[in-house]
Amino acid sequence: MSKFLEIALDVAREAGKIQIKSLGKVIDIGYKGKGKNNVVTEVDKKCEAFIVKQIKKAFPDHAFLAEEGTAEDSKTPYKWIIDPLDGTVNYSHAHPVFAVSIGLEYKGKMIAGACYGPMLDEMYWAELGKGAYCNGKKIHVTKTSSLETAMVCTGFAYDVKTNPLNNLNNFSAFILKAQAVRRDGAAVLNICYTARGRYDGFWELYLNPWDVAAATLILTEAGGKVTKLDGSKYSVYGYETLCSNGKIHRAMIDVLKKANPRT
Ligand code: IPD
Ligand code: CA
Ligand code: CA
Repeated sequence: MSKFLEIALDVAREAGKIQIKSLGKVIDIGYKGKGKNNVVTEVDKKCEAFIVKQIKKAFPDHAFLAEEGTAEDSKTPYKWIIDPLDGTVNYSHAHPVFAVSIGLEYKGKMIAGACYGPMLDEMYWAELGKGAYCNGKKIHVTKTSSLETAMVCTGFAYDVKTNPLNNLNNFSAFILKAQAVRRDGAAVLNICYTARGRYDGFWELYLNPWDVAAATLILTEAGGKVTKLDGSKYSVYGYETLCSNGKIHRAMIDVLKKANPRT
């Protein structure tokens, strides 16, 4: 295991402990943007400060991009992409589906990722070309080959009430095609669960790099596939994420195409 991943795992686990300690006790809740659905807590900020400080201690020259405002360039080709707390709305309701995500990009390519779900004490990780793991055991996507027996998952962006591209059409389309559709509020875990075979597929619009950087590497290293919603080339900096076990990818693209006739 590289020094990079070792640090990422350590720091993700420690951030998870901070989250568990304050679960159900958060009093400082703020709102980003309009409305009350994009929540930020003191724990998001505390975890980000902790993660960035610890990684900087080990790699002082690297660049950073993290959700709660850390954005630092670097002369080195390394960039850490961090979601200190994914599933903040869940967290603010003491709902157990939340996670820490730490990814490392090298020359524009993800090379390492650690995602930690503290409530189930599940540490997911991957390094490019070396497979994906959960708590030390190799993980793989499912072999499900039909939507009829597939459980898929999605999420909704915070502007769902005002953006006409609100994903509700896709949600209804999958409800009618898949065995089951879930929405559980933490994209990082949704993608890791697809990597380990709890879900067969996942899609969402408007995710940010910190939601997907580490988890999509874990997914592809677990044998899964990630593209844009029409099947075209993926970027963590794009705004469309379609993940699957590979076998139902085409069927998921077809459902999405049908639900969006003019796009
Ligand atoms: C959010 C969660 C949610 C997804 C949103 C994300 P946050 O991240 O992953 O499941 O639907 O699009 O922004 O704000 O809790 O880190
Ligand atoms: Ca997130
Ligand atoms: Ca977050």
